[in-house]
Amino acid sequence: MTTATNKVEIRRGLMGVYFDRSDSCFIDGTVGKLLYRGYDIHELAENSTFEEVVHLLLFGKLPNRKELDAFDKQLRADRDIPDKVLDIMDTVKNGHPMDVLRTAVSALSAFDPEVKDNSEAAIIRKGLRLTAKAPTIVAAHDRLRKGLKPVKPNASLNHAGNFLYMLNGKMPSEDEMHIMDVDFILHAEHGSNASAFAARVAASTQTDLHSAVVAGIATLKGPAHGGAAEEVMKMAEEIGRPENAESYARNILDHGGRVMGFGHRVYKAEDPRARHLRDRSHTLGISKGQPQWFEILAKLQEVMKPYQAKGIYVNVDFFAGSIYYLMGIPDDIFISIFALGRIPGWTLNVAEQYRSNILIRPLTDYSGPMDVPYTPISKRN
Ligand code: SDX
Repeated sequence: MTTATNKVEIRRGLMGVYFDRSDSCFIDGTVGKLLYRGYDIHELAENSTFEEVVHLLLFGKLPNRKELDAFDKQLRADRDIPDKVLDIMDTVKNGHPMDVLRTAVSALSAFDPEVKDNSEAAIIRKGLRLTAKAPTIVAAHDRLRKGLKPVKPNASLNHAGNFLYMLNGKMPSEDEMHIMDVDFILHAEHGSNASAFAARVAASTQTDLHSAVVAGIATLKGPAHGGAAEEVMKMAEEIGRPENAESYARNILDHGGRVMGFGHRVYKAEDPRARHLRDRSHTLGISKGQPQWFEILAKLQEVMKPYQAKGIYVNVDFFAGSIYYLMGIPDDIFISIFALGRIPGWTLNVAEQYRSNILIRPLTDYSGPMDVPYTPISKRN
């Protein structure tokens, strides 16, 4: 919405505003197209791995076999977190998983020898260390709050498999490892979304990567951004059966509410990431003997079809929650999984900001009184 006053044009929410150039991520919201460094998300989701995609995002190219092996070896070597950080996490273990992740990333800055180095190479190295350690943080926290010992990272497993292994304390199935890997790919980067923009605003003041990632985590936590997957699953549980979906959605819409997992600031066509989670929600539900969740979500998507005329389609979060639920992941960790995927994207945004940095400082159009005379307290009634 823009309102032209007699002085300025205001673009609330910075809607439609281009604030910089970027070669990291292309989104055409009118047709639902998404490219990471020029590669189509459908190709990456179906043929690549999270490790390859992180390399593509941070180094600008898909790695060859030798490069991938060295890169993957480094990521696996960087998964451990200091005991002192685990102690801090134990102190705050009753907090929300995103608050504990945010706290642990802050604490890690005290243990990273390059924390003050804002060169691009150091930013990338620190971002990779955080990418490697974040699953350990999320999994260890869940174990601590359950009174269990954290499970040490398993270097024989890839990034996605190791996360599930540390979380559940048992080897994940090949199928679950692959689904989680695709999920991380789909969440890895998305241009100047709110959390990436928050990280860029932080970086524009020349602060360090850890501080910028903390800003990203804090911003992602909101249900309008990253918290929707958890809300979608709560909605599916409240709906209970596919035949209830229509009246449930109607009730929300008639009261001017938002049906979670639908709508997007940029996509006015289907979010291209959604289909890759839709198929997997369907197959996983059947294999787990719980087909009802996909059936409820599919019915809800059908009920919302008329809203496509207004550019309201499913987004990446709509099917994600049912997948995490079927994997037995606690619902307050759903959003943390989004953050685990997005750390490389935040790192790339910070590196891009630093490449030709300028302080990000927009204006507000003042609408208050002018030059009000000061009244000493003795004269105020
Ligand atoms: C992500 O930006 C990114 O790239 C984010 C993301 C990423 O990868 O980083 O893609 C991830 O954040 C996905 C979005 C997850 N959030 C949700 O699913 C929450 C539900 N969605 C909405 O809150 C909403 O769609 C937003 C916040 C996502 C986008 O909202 P906008 O762009 O600010 O649009 P709006 O709220 O002003 O809505 C415009 C119109 C309104 O109708 P009118 O008042 O004009 O008649 O669309 C309607 C809204 O009522 N609308 C919805 C709706 N979303 C928008 N109506 C019903 N249900 C919805 N979900």
